[in-house]
This record gives sequence, C-alpha cells and structure tokens, in this order.
Amino acid sequence: MPDLLAPENAHTPLRHAVPALLSVRDLRVSYRTGRGIAHAVDGASFDVGQAEMVGLVGESGCGKTTAARSLTGVMAGNASVTGGNVTFTGQNLLALDKQAMRAVRWKQIAFVPQSAMNSLDPVYRVERQIKEVLIRNGLRGRPARARALALLDMVGLEPSVLAAFPHQLSGGMRQRVAIALALALDPLLVIADEPVTALDVIVQREVLDTLRDLQKRLHLSVIMITHDISVVAYCCDSIVVMYAGQVVESGPSSALLGAAAHPYTMGLCNAFPDLERAADLLVPIQGSPPDLHEPPAGCRFAPRCPFAVTRCTVQVPPLVEIEPGHKAACWRSAEAGILRQRAMEATTWMR
Ligand SMILES: Nc1ncnc2c1ncn2[C@@H]1O[C@H](COP(=O)(O)OP(=O)(O)O)[C@@H](O)[C@H]1O
Ligand code: SF4
Ligand SMILES: [Mg+2]
Repeated sequence: MPDLLAPENAHTPLRHAVPALLSVRDLRVSYRTGRGIAHAVDGASFDVGQAEMVGLVGESGCGKTTAARSLTGVMAGNASVTGGNVTFTGQNLLALDKQAMRAVRWKQIAFVPQSAMNSLDPVYRVERQIKEVLIRNGLRGRPARARALALLDMVGLEPSVLAAFPHQLSGGMRQRVAIALALALDPLLVIADEPVTALDVIVQREVLDTLRDLQKRLHLSVIMITHDISVVAYCCDSIVVMYAGQVVESGPSSALLGAAAHPYTMGLCNAFPDLERAADLLVPIQGSPPDLHEPPAGCRFAPRCPFAVTRCTVQVPPLVEIEPGHKAACWRSAEAGILRQRAMEATTWMR
C-alpha cells in the first residue's frame, strides 16, 4: 500500500479553510432484528467541507455503511433513523420526503456502493447502464452517448468500454465504471463505500489516484469509506474514525496520522503497513467490535483498549476538541503523547 507519510502525500488541513457542505450531528440509525434493536450508528457527528476528501474509517461492523446510506435515504427495510440532523447545502436531509430525496440522490449526492464492481448489472452493456442514469437529467440519444464517452474518459477508460458487458472488464475497470456512474449527473458530494477493497495493491493505487485527481479537478467533496487506514492516509484531507457506531476521533489527516489521540486510531495505524513499519511488525488489535444490540457501558473500546482505566468502563467519554479541528473521545487524550509511544510497542496490544 502507499507510504503513509511520504512527502507527496502531505495533507492540507482544510477543515477550517472551507465551509462545511455536509454537517452530520448526533446521527442515530438502528436496525430491528430478531434479537431486538441494533444501534448501528449511535450519535455520530462529523463535517465534510466543500471540495474536501474525507475518509470514514473503522473496522467492519462499526456503522460506516449505515451512516453513509442514511445520508441518501437508501436503507435496508429494517433500518430507521432515530435521531440527529444532517444539513447539506442548507437543507435538512432527514426532513426530506421520498420525492425530495430522489431529487438529491445522484444529482447532488452520488453513492458508489460497497462492492460496486459486482453491483453493475451483468446483462447490460456499460453504455446502457450509464444512459439509465443520464436519463434522470433528461439526456437521451446522441447527447447521452457523448456524455457517456466523456465520463469514461474522465475515469481513464477507452471508448470501447461503452460496448462491453461488466464481465468483460477487469475489477479495476468495473470500479472505474462505477465511479463514472456516480459522476454522471455532476454531484456535489460522492460517497464511495470501500471503493478499492477488492482490488490488488497496484490497481488500488491507480483507482485512488484517479479519484483524487477527479476530486481536485471537479472541486468535488468525497466521503471515502474504508476499513484500511492506509487508504485514507493516501488520499484524504481529513479523517473520521468510527468505532461501534460512534465517531471516536476526527480531524485533518496530518493530525490524526502524525499525532493520533485515540487508542483505537493508534491501533488502526499499527494494523496497516506504512513507511516506518515492516509488514511483519504489524500488530492487530485483539478481539473485535462489540455487538451493537448491547454495547459495553462507558467507552465502547474499553474491552480492547490496552490503556483502559476504571473510569473508562463507567463513563462515556465525550467527543471534544483537543486542538483546533482535531477531536477525540478518550478520557486519556491529554496523555496521548505517552500512549502513542506505548502503542508503538507490539507487547502493548498482546493481552
Ligand atoms: N440490514 C441489517 N439488519 C441488521 N443489522 C444490520 C443490517 N445492516 C448492517 N447491520 C449491522 O449494523 C452494524 C453496522 O454495519 P455497517 O454499517 O455495515 O458497518 P460497516 O460499514 O462499518 O462495516 C453491524 O453490526 C451490522 O451487522
Ligand atoms: S476512554 Fe479509556 S478505554 Fe476508551 S480509548 Fe480512552 S483510554 Fe481507552
Ligand atoms: Mg460497510
């Protein structure tokens, strides 16, 4: 994977330089299941600035996809938004009815779904699939074909791809088609859910380069969802770390990668390769995220946290600003420098 701290990947802390395009406050989404209610997103707050690329990162099951889908109103039948505010270009998305939400989807907020590679319809050629999106803007015939070709060009694909069926394309090419579909109606915000997860490392880098290049050229805002912190480190301006349905740390990438303040972020940085660490020194975080039907009391990370103290298992740490634009929800964030040193040692995580 890319080098986290390579100079060409230096990040600009845009959080204060740009006004928020999307503002999520105390978002709550739950699922009704046979075992009761799973609080998949439980009070998440974060911002996405104009022309900013924000990485939403956390292990599988932490609520990233649920949070993202609730922003576009495309949710599973057993899901409900139970609280919060989502402001996008001045409108509260959670208050929109289905018809108003349809007007936002694709045209203002476009979604590249998880495993987009396989979400393309196998029985239709790429041209038809792109035209099905373009028709939402009333584009048909020759203008639609011209726009489809322009979209393929934008994502680095040859015109011949228009006539291809998905199975005739490589994984990386299918992912590029999925990105082209998302860009079809000139959205302001693109949400890409694990866009490079199924790809090999070289193709990952190429697709991320394309996405980053388009984001800059089109002044797009992007939410990049991934479980792999090295992916967000490679291309995102800001990072939002989710654990067990909650945001535990957020801020400019440079701050989170250089001076993580939450032990979960420190653990994620240890668990993925970067410049400083040989692959055989990677240290996984022991255990797995909690069952969201019955999350632990206090800090949800406490059962896995090597630095937990008694208070952690009793009181919920609030998400507070520890330096401008950098927030963390940890009772011990004032000691973050010392904890970071200890977090670098593999033995710290072997419990
Ligand atoms: N349709 C569903 N019904 C019940 N639980 C679900 C459903 N979809 C997701 N979940 C649960 O919600 C939690 C968050 O899932 P998800 O948003 O997919 O996380 P992530 O994208 O971070 O992997 C997980 O515990 C998952 O099992
Ligand atoms: S609040 Fe306590 S348990 Fe939670 S991350 Fe901080 S030190 Fe660990
Ligand atoms: Mg997901």
